[in-house]
Amino acid sequence: MLASVGFLLLNFLALSAASTYPNYHAEFHDDDEEISDSAKWWQTGAFYQIYPRSFKDSNGDGVGDLNGISSNLPYLKDLGITATWLSPIFTSPMADFGYDIANFTEIAPIFGTMADFEALMVKAKELDIKIILDFVPNHSSDECDWFKRSAAGEEEYKDFYVWHPGRMVDGKRQPPSNWISVFHGPAWEWHPGRKEYYLHQFVKKQPDLNYRNPKVREAMNNVLRFWLAKGVSGFRIDAVPHVFELGPNAQNEYRDEPRNDGDNDPNDYGYLQHIYTVDQPETIDLVYSWRAVLDEFQRENGGEDRILMAETYSPIEIVMKYYGNGTAEGAQLPFNFLLISELTNASNAQAYAMTVQKWLQYMPAGRTANWVLGNHDKPRVGSRLGSDRVDMLNMLITTLPGASVTYQGEELGMTDVWISWKDTVDPSACNTNPSIYEQFSRDPERTPFQWSNAKDAGFSNANKTWLPIGPDYQVVNVEQENQTPLSHLNIYKKLLSLRKESKTLQQGATEVKALNGAVLAVKRMLQNEQTYITVLNIYDGVETVNLQQFFNDLPQELQVVVISGRSIVKEGDLVKTDSIQLQPKDSLVLRSTSTFYSGYSSGGQFPLPWSIYLGLGQVALYLSYRQILTLN
Ligand code: GLC
Repeated sequence: MLASVGFLLLNFLALSAASTYPNYHAEFHDDDEEISDSAKWWQTGAFYQIYPRSFKDSNGDGVGDLNGISSNLPYLKDLGITATWLSPIFTSPMADFGYDIANFTEIAPIFGTMADFEALMVKAKELDIKIILDFVPNHSSDECDWFKRSAAGEEEYKDFYVWHPGRMVDGKRQPPSNWISVFHGPAWEWHPGRKEYYLHQFVKKQPDLNYRNPKVREAMNNVLRFWLAKGVSGFRIDAVPHVFELGPNAQNEYRDEPRNDGDNDPNDYGYLQHIYTVDQPETIDLVYSWRAVLDEFQRENGGEDRILMAETYSPIEIVMKYYGNGTAEGAQLPFNFLLISELTNASNAQAYAMTVQKWLQYMPAGRTANWVLGNHDKPRVGSRLGSDRVDMLNMLITTLPGASVTYQGEELGMTDVWISWKDTVDPSACNTNPSIYEQFSRDPERTPFQWSNAKDAGFSNANKTWLPIGPDYQVVNVEQENQTPLSHLNIYKKLLSLRKESKTLQQGATEVKALNGAVLAVKRMLQNEQTYITVLNIYDGVETVNLQQFFNDLPQELQVVVISGRSIVKEGDLVKTDSIQLQPKDSLVLRSTSTFYSGYSSGGQFPLPWSIYLGLGQVALYLSYRQILTLN
């Protein structure tokens, strides 16, 4: 009973919340102005994350490298990629596979040399692919010169990190607070040299930098300037919410974080509510100050926008602040992780609709949306939401407004690879134990890229690669998929090229609706341009939907422009808008054959305050999720 109420509520919310979202980054023009006049390169960009260790190994050591990336930039070009962000390539003892940086302006020998990096930049420029680097501000490696000098108490570096003598409890020295590391165990480590504790929100080889010290801020600004001068187009900022933590009080004491009921492992990150160690208000201004560094560089050196992409899984109200405020600009693209954090394999079309609408509703006017399906920290999208939903999800993120972000291999439908405890290398898992490591390991999504059905999937010719190769590499690989007309790869390419040529997909207004429990539809429309409709059948039944019931301004027929591997219609077919048929897990991109005016209204369809919709939405999602479990 409760479950049915939830289902109905969800339907009501998804439908009543269905609004038209104006295009935020472009003006509507009556004349035929070119897209480039109004949209910047990143606003409709296809972003692609390369995890360098696993992309392509050029020297046979079993680990990917810069030359491997350079030689495969034409692959990215062929896909239609605008910009690629590289996970860290800097000198590092690799305790967290490069997210523990020993020198922020040096290339790690395992990835190559500075000359290799410069060659990569030249090649990328020739191909017009922009390079974005990973900027890891929260911490360095304990092998960083700054940390060694800080530990030695050198005046200049003394306060570069967060140090504290600890607190005395019953005559015994204890860590300054109960804070726990994201990667298990205490977040404070005793340093025998300096005879103080240092803070590390991640592994103990990743000491947290102290952003209350202006010298640290300047040193990190110089890191940005260094790479900007090398020609990069921007940065993905790592672990943003962790950069500041609450400082000590007047008595120089840190406050304990409160317990989280339900988690009884005192070493587990979930044991505490992180009210003092994440999302501190100063962090937002710090991101604005990095944006100012980029803008200053652009003013002085010219060229196109340099951008920031911010990694934060914070509550959406906080994420939105990273875009900027009335007076300061922030990250052009705070990552939208909602498709990762809010959807499960069981989610229905209403849940998809609400997830997409949530970002568009919260996003401040004038900002650009983005859609992330995966990254090196999360199970692969095919494993999370279904390997039979890969095409529909790619259709969704490339036909929604704004930028799409693809993690390497997800254009092929690569899925998580099971890794034994013996082969596990991720510190997040290694810090636990063989019975629970799988919950924490990020190795399954980091296995080598599958290029072909040759040895090591064409990734390397080493006898052992740093992580095992996925067992499906004979089928799921670039070479094979290039030859298969309706492979995930070919569908992905078609989608990127469609967005590149379509003014509507780049600049149009958007409507997102669940047509029933199974079918999600996205309408894109722009004055004097063709209208697009993307339809996804999320479940396993055959569905026939009448688009006329849900959308205004639709012609009697639409033309099929992209099909999934499951479709029985063909590209170029005309389909009747009052009876679109979809096969199980099928998806289609449809387009009007002529251009016509599509007016739109911006918002104004929400009679209740948004917090009420969201609260009800959460209850509804929970109840309908229970219903789905019961139905299955
Ligand atoms: C970010 C990175 C992750 C890394 C952590 C610490 O979340 O994406 O891979 O382990 O920060 O730097």
